[in-house]
Amino acid sequence: MSTNTTSAYSDFHLQFIAGEWQTGKDDSTNTNTNPYNGDTLVEIQQATKDQLNEAYDAATQAQEAWAKQTPAARAAVLYKVVNILDQRQEEIVDWLIKESGSTRIKAMVEFGATRAITLEAATFPNRVHGEIRPSNTPGKENFIYREPIGVVAVISPWNFPLHLTQRSIAPALALGNAVVLKPASDTPVTGGLLLAKVFEEAGLPKGLLNVVVGSGSEIGDAIVEHKASSFVSFTGSTSVGKHIGELANGGEHIKQVALELGGNSPFVVLKDADIDQAVKAAVFGKFLHQGQICMAINRIIVENEVYDEFVERFLSHVKTLQVGDPNDQGTAIGPIINEKQVQSLRDKIDEAQKEGAKMLLSGEINGQLVPPHIFTEVTREMDIAYNEIFGPLIGIIRAKNEEDALSIANDSMYGLSSAVFTADMQKGLRFARGIRAGMTHINDISVNDESNTPFGGEKNSGIGRFNGEWVLEEFTRTHWISMQNEPREYPF
Ligand code: TAP
Repeated sequence: MSTNTTSAYSDFHLQFIAGEWQTGKDDSTNTNTNPYNGDTLVEIQQATKDQLNEAYDAATQAQEAWAKQTPAARAAVLYKVVNILDQRQEEIVDWLIKESGSTRIKAMVEFGATRAITLEAATFPNRVHGEIRPSNTPGKENFIYREPIGVVAVISPWNFPLHLTQRSIAPALALGNAVVLKPASDTPVTGGLLLAKVFEEAGLPKGLLNVVVGSGSEIGDAIVEHKASSFVSFTGSTSVGKHIGELANGGEHIKQVALELGGNSPFVVLKDADIDQAVKAAVFGKFLHQGQICMAINRIIVENEVYDEFVERFLSHVKTLQVGDPNDQGTAIGPIINEKQVQSLRDKIDEAQKEGAKMLLSGEINGQLVPPHIFTEVTREMDIAYNEIFGPLIGIIRAKNEEDALSIANDSMYGLSSAVFTADMQKGLRFARGIRAGMTHINDISVNDESNTPFGGEKNSGIGRFNGEWVLEEFTRTHWISMQNEPREYPF
């Protein structure tokens, strides 16, 4: 085993297991590339199942002592993490740009969200609390404790790797748990190894955070099924999420799961909306990070009376967007994460045309750069409307009236986020309450995340909530303890 304790944030070729930087022992290598120019950023020898077991053993051992630490001691580590994030902001933003193809704007948004959830998590050790409930049995007292779960398994995606990893691991650690994390293969650094360096620098005791880099198809099942963890926090696609849900509930060890999956956010423009503002919002909410966000606008639904005006203004705004180098301040649309995703977008463009949508704006796909594509005359059952896009393509659907708009908005197997634009707040609230989704934003984009509000979806978008007291409940277990203070009388 080779070890390396360098504090530089440039070398990430090792795994972080049991508090040591060690070489992966699998024969396979993860070649981590820059999605914009194809440069190799780092080669990481992948982890074996034995190394995964080592990570779980270390986490199990370290967790007991960590849970016994004072809330103040755990909070102090989290506050230190916030300080280090601030000091290293430039390096972190640079990694987000080169590893995940984030534009500068997106990298800053992601950095801000990561910082916010870390700060929120730093308050959790002192916020977690139990209850005392009355009893109908004479002489009994009921105490409800919230305890750490133990070891939490975290599997995270590549699109907002830093934030979507941190929003699981920061609360988990703050609440006295240990973590075994598998980042996405496209973003092993920003999705895991970089955060391991930050926590190590902040003085997190060894073994509490383990980052195991390996392919989901190779070690994914073993991570989920390992007996040492009783909770799996997964963020990614609905198909893999369903598989994990089945494993967690049908395998040898029954586990709790939090599943944050795909989305198909409707963005509804009612006829009384401020069209200028709706257009600006639609462009940002659709094209931020090339549309590769689970909450990204996936369908634009516009009431008939303002449809043509909206389309015209939307088109002229989208035409101004710069596509190219994500490191360039002026770039709005950077590269797609990998060739497989580019191919899935090519297929969607072909399918939309085959199904009769009108392609109002297109452009040449150049490597992993996909320019914005706009389709009109889209109907709710077309692939571009019914399925998740995860790229800079958009279909605009005409709604006959408000009722029709709501019916279209709800015609989805997903239910993550949504948005409605109207000048009438009462109407907006009524409409919002009619949407079957975990989150709806009136006069704003569907892409919103605040560290103190419940984030999550329903239907095929998953189960569970992040942030604030909702994640505090997710990452602790409830334990009812009763105390019989006088001899109880039993019937026999
Ligand atoms: P996935 O292919 O589902 O990958 C997500 C994670 O799961 C990766 O770490 C992946 O590892 C791992 N994985 C793959 N197969 C696995 C298996 N059999 N067992 C355990 N883990 C496995 O999704 P993606 O391509 O990264 O992300 C795109 C999708 O995720 C979109 O549908 C998007 O909507 C959704 N997403 C949702 C959210 C929220 S918050 N709801 C956030 C981001 C993304 P490898 O990379 O090694 O394959």
